[in-house]
Amino acid sequence: MTAAIRTQYCEPEGIQVQEVNTPAPGPKEILIRVHASTVNRTDMAILRGKPYIMRLFTGLSKPKLPITGTDFAGVVEATGSEVTLWQPGERVWGFNDLGLCSHATHICLHEAANIASIPDNVSFLEAAASAEGAHYALNFYNKVNIASGQNALVYGASGAIGSALVQQLKAQGLEVTAVGPTEYMESMKTLGADHWVDFRKTDFTRLSARFDYVFDAVGKSTFGACKRLLKPKGIYISSEPGPWAQHLFLPMITGIGGGKRVIFPFPSDIPATLGTMNTLLSQGRFHPLIDRTFPLEQISEAFQYVATGKKMGNVVIQINR
Ligand SMILES: NC(=O)c1ccc[n+]([C@@H]2O[C@H](COP(=O)([O-])OP(=O)(O)OC[C@H]3O[C@@H](n4cnc5c(N)ncnc54)[C@H](OP(=O)(O)O)[C@@H]3O)[C@@H](O)[C@H]2O)c1
Repeated sequence: MTAAIRTQYCEPEGIQVQEVNTPAPGPKEILIRVHASTVNRTDMAILRGKPYIMRLFTGLSKPKLPITGTDFAGVVEATGSEVTLWQPGERVWGFNDLGLCSHATHICLHEAANIASIPDNVSFLEAAASAEGAHYALNFYNKVNIASGQNALVYGASGAIGSALVQQLKAQGLEVTAVGPTEYMESMKTLGADHWVDFRKTDFTRLSARFDYVFDAVGKSTFGACKRLLKPKGIYISSEPGPWAQHLFLPMITGIGGGKRVIFPFPSDIPATLGTMNTLLSQGRFHPLIDRTFPLEQISEAFQYVATGKKMGNVVIQINR
């Protein structure tokens, strides 16, 4: 099979696309022919081994998994002798934020890994692009009791997390104000945002509106700067710990008074994300934003593009076309 390989933590230029042995499924494993995967910010962090704390899980001195990739959409090609959950020919997708070796033409996974069927109306590209950003987005709003009729501001609405979050919140009946670049305005309207603010022209922290939630999906704001945007019991959630890691300890302090609060969205429960996204995708209520597609042979270029921080939504790798 063909795979994107690196043996050390490195920059995108260090990835090589090589021929390696196709894994054979063990008794409880399935072999999947991969049709699409993404290059996302999680892949970028695992490639570089940064932040360093991540190496406790991905390998201290060098990556445990030589093949890159955290998500996939494909077809079950073969099953082990004791597999009961999946059949050859089934269309499946999945995600693991610690790595799946899915930047390859084939992967072998335990039948009970984070895998779900792909709804009939969803393409491989769409499924792959509904995993990483959507998982982190879902882990923003599942930390709070959102209710139809509330309002939210999403800062960084053009990213993989932000574009998923806008659609997920709209599906829950919230009024959404999206903050992002002008070029993205038309896409945001299509995805359902009620209001749009160009972050280069307007300081969104000075808006007169007040929100039940401020979600920073690009990790470039602070609670201090956004506090005035919140209603008296409003909640602030950011994808990043903040310049002094304050978003990690502010939840304890701000949780005491009953007023404006900070919550840090530690992600968990990938199977729940796959289930929720399958419901939204099959009902046509979620359409992942796809920026560019690259063939597996150009995966290094795909990583370089993601490293710019300029992608809009998702960058998809097409495999086995
Ligand atoms: N450490 C990890 O494993 C990990 C994993 C996933 C996500 N994250 C974090 O989650 C955050 C978002 O990730 P993502 O994958 O959704 O990002 P992404 O897809 O790379 O999002 C980048 C988008 O944000 C826009 N943007 C940049 N600066 C902005 C600003 N100041 N205001 C509003 N929009 C701005 C960019 O537009 P322009 O091109 O116009 O600048 C671009 O469209 C990041 O903080 C990332 O570090 C971390």
